Amino acid sequence: MLTRLIRRGSAYEVNFNRLSWSSLKNRFPMTNVPIRSLQLSSSAQMGANKAAGAAFGKRTMPKNAVVSTFINTTILILMGSVGSLLYHKYQQKQKRLAKIDRVLPVSPYFKAPLKLVMYRNTVVTEEMVLDGTAERVEAFETRPTDIFLTSFPKSGTTWLQEVVFRLCNQNQDSTEILEDRVPYLEFPYPGIKDISQREGQRLIKSHLPLHLLPKGVWDGQGKVIYIYRNPKDVAVSYFHFAQLLSYLNFQGPFSRFVQLFVKDEIPYAPYFPHVNEYIQYSRDRPEQILCISYEDMKENPEREVRKIAKFLKADATDEMIESICEKTTFDAMKVNPASNYQHWKTFGLVLPNREPFMRKGIVGDHANYFKDPFTQNEMDKFIEIGVKNTGLNFRYSISNDN
Ligand code: A3P
Repeated sequence: MLTRLIRRGSAYEVNFNRLSWSSLKNRFPMTNVPIRSLQLSSSAQMGANKAAGAAFGKRTMPKNAVVSTFINTTILILMGSVGSLLYHKYQQKQKRLAKIDRVLPVSPYFKAPLKLVMYRNTVVTEEMVLDGTAERVEAFETRPTDIFLTSFPKSGTTWLQEVVFRLCNQNQDSTEILEDRVPYLEFPYPGIKDISQREGQRLIKSHLPLHLLPKGVWDGQGKVIYIYRNPKDVAVSYFHFAQLLSYLNFQGPFSRFVQLFVKDEIPYAPYFPHVNEYIQYSRDRPEQILCISYEDMKENPEREVRKIAKFLKADATDEMIESICEKTTFDAMKVNPASNYQHWKTFGLVLPNREPFMRKGIVGDHANYFKDPFTQNEMDKFIEIGVKNTGLNFRYSISNDN
């Protein structure tokens, strides 16, 4: 209708650029038309014009005036719509801002423009709250067949993803990158919309604490496997990762990173409540939530993979379990382009001359880092308080690793 009238408008030689309220009045014999009446539909307007014409002795409205009226009306309606859209956006932003408990101080060691906030007891980027990701995660429609693979960052998530993918896919070798095979729920790629539209069984990665997972999980839908790792090795691995990622770009000594870690000022902190919540709920819901530790996986992968297979009721023979363990060793995954994140270089996600994602993959590397007494003491105090509050136990070494 609009295009038709615009086409007709040009035939009537209406100069769109010069349309204004005064020109409208000049063109339109029904002078002093109140604004409200201009919002009549075009047919109602035509009817009104005819009536006005009759009143002025069969004087009908010129066709170009009809077009002008229509265009002005359309502009008014569009402006109204844009205005209300902007107002809606503003209100939405205010609502989301109100959900932020506090904005964290910006560490000068993060050289990327990073804004971290505390949102429902968890450190996330401000963007994640303001762009609606957090809301969309909560509302994400889960299915009973979904499997969520979760962790505090740097606890062995990638390893767990590869193991579970194989268990669910007959130990199939895949050339597809991990982000596509096991999408990351709260990350922009491939995005919640893409994950929602996937058919069949979905394996979904997330670093969110249990209380921020989709509501459906809380209602008992889907299974969750959580992997945790001792906080000292997590801090070491996270330190290297924060240096590697361009959107964190941490440039500072290890001691400074540990300070941020113990002050809960890094993404997904606080560490202890993150681990504790999953472990507590796994006790209440053993059918739905399984927790395993990185150290146990390193010590005896076969035993742990079997545990996962049993939890998932996966159809896996002894032979298959053995083969999965072989194909998911650190050395095997490090050279596998489908699981070593080498492709991040192409996307500019990682900085050059940094330790790779698949770094060492061992238990106890912390001994090489916590050397100065001050940093050691800070971490020990952090662990002491965390353990006291939660009763959690961690392994800091295993006999078959170094
Ligand atoms: P390091 O930095 O200590 O080497 P996440 O996947 O949660 O980000 O965790 C990454 C850590 O797990 C890194 O630790 C990485 O090397 C290690 N990792 C990845 N795959 C592994 C595997 N197959 N076996 C042991 N460790 C692995």
